[in-house]
Amino acid sequence: MSLALTEDPETVFKSNHMNHFLEDVLTGLRSNPKHLSSKYFYDKTGDGLFQKIMAMPEYYLTRCELDIFRNKTGDLANLINAYGSAFDLIELGAGDAMKSAFLLRHLNEKGADFTYMPIDISGNILSVLKENLNKELPQLDIIPLEGEYFEMLEKASAMSSKRKVILFLGGNIGNMSRQEAEDFCKQLYHLSDPQDILLIGFDLKKNPHTVLNAYNDPGGVTAAFNLNLLSRINRELKGNFNPDYFQHYATYDPVTGACRSFLISLVNQEVLISGERIIFEENEILDMEVSQKFSIDEIHHLAEHTGFKVTGEITDSKNWFVDSIWKKGHLKTDVYGK
Ligand code: AVJ
Repeated sequence: MSLALTEDPETVFKSNHMNHFLEDVLTGLRSNPKHLSSKYFYDKTGDGLFQKIMAMPEYYLTRCELDIFRNKTGDLANLINAYGSAFDLIELGAGDAMKSAFLLRHLNEKGADFTYMPIDISGNILSVLKENLNKELPQLDIIPLEGEYFEMLEKASAMSSKRKVILFLGGNIGNMSRQEAEDFCKQLYHLSDPQDILLIGFDLKKNPHTVLNAYNDPGGVTAAFNLNLLSRINRELKGNFNPDYFQHYATYDPVTGACRSFLISLVNQEVLISGERIIFEENEILDMEVSQKFSIDEIHHLAEHTGFKVTGEITDSKNWFVDSIWKKGHLKTDVYGK
């Protein structure tokens, strides 16, 4: 599946997350309503489609966070205490590192003492990242980690005793349900030390048309991004989905802040996946992805509720996106009784 990177056992650490692919797919398709996990969108074709999405005029998220990383780099560096003691800069879901590259360049120029550890579920995109960064910043110390967030975070912690700065950008946290996001932050709490710093990107609630347009582009790239998961199942799990018999549908609920993607079955149909039979009725809904939008208050609540304190906040010039900086605080979760 992936290139040079995965052939080099010295620098790449892989988990066995693909073993769960078939199991997750079948469990999701046997549920009611049927669902698939958007974390599986990112094979080579999916990575390419997501890069296309990031370049679309409708998909404002990338430009908002780029605005922060390009124009407020010095503030970011100060908030993560980049000129203190040596640290590991760990990025969860690094992708092609398009945004973090601005910070890496800055830190490199200023002589900060750090190792960059990008974590991603896609080995393909990590090889793209490594090639680009090696070319531009040959002296950068970089250790790519291919796999699930926490498995790789534990690996990173085991490899080094330096303090950690953990980046979780792009609104990736939005792909979790509220409960999952809370559990995720609690796990981060238990895996981090008091001197560690967390920087999480949140897409903020805004005009509902703006949000919906970002996930409902007229060119159909987002639709193709969703449908590619069916093709990926065909390729990797011996499936026989016909993507032509499914239609993409996006919704945004401005009250809850949940932007959702579905695929609608256009006909009664039967699909085989590794010999297992799944039946779809006409107009049956397949739940594909949530991209949660937040208010600043909801972010503060999430931090406090999971034991963190917000030590900084940087928004883009439009106030559409925020990078929120957290440190371990007093664990208030006991008080809340959870
Ligand atoms: C990569 C999770 C930030 O939810 O906005 C883009 C993925 N899905 N268009 C998002 C995505 C549809 C994206 N994240």
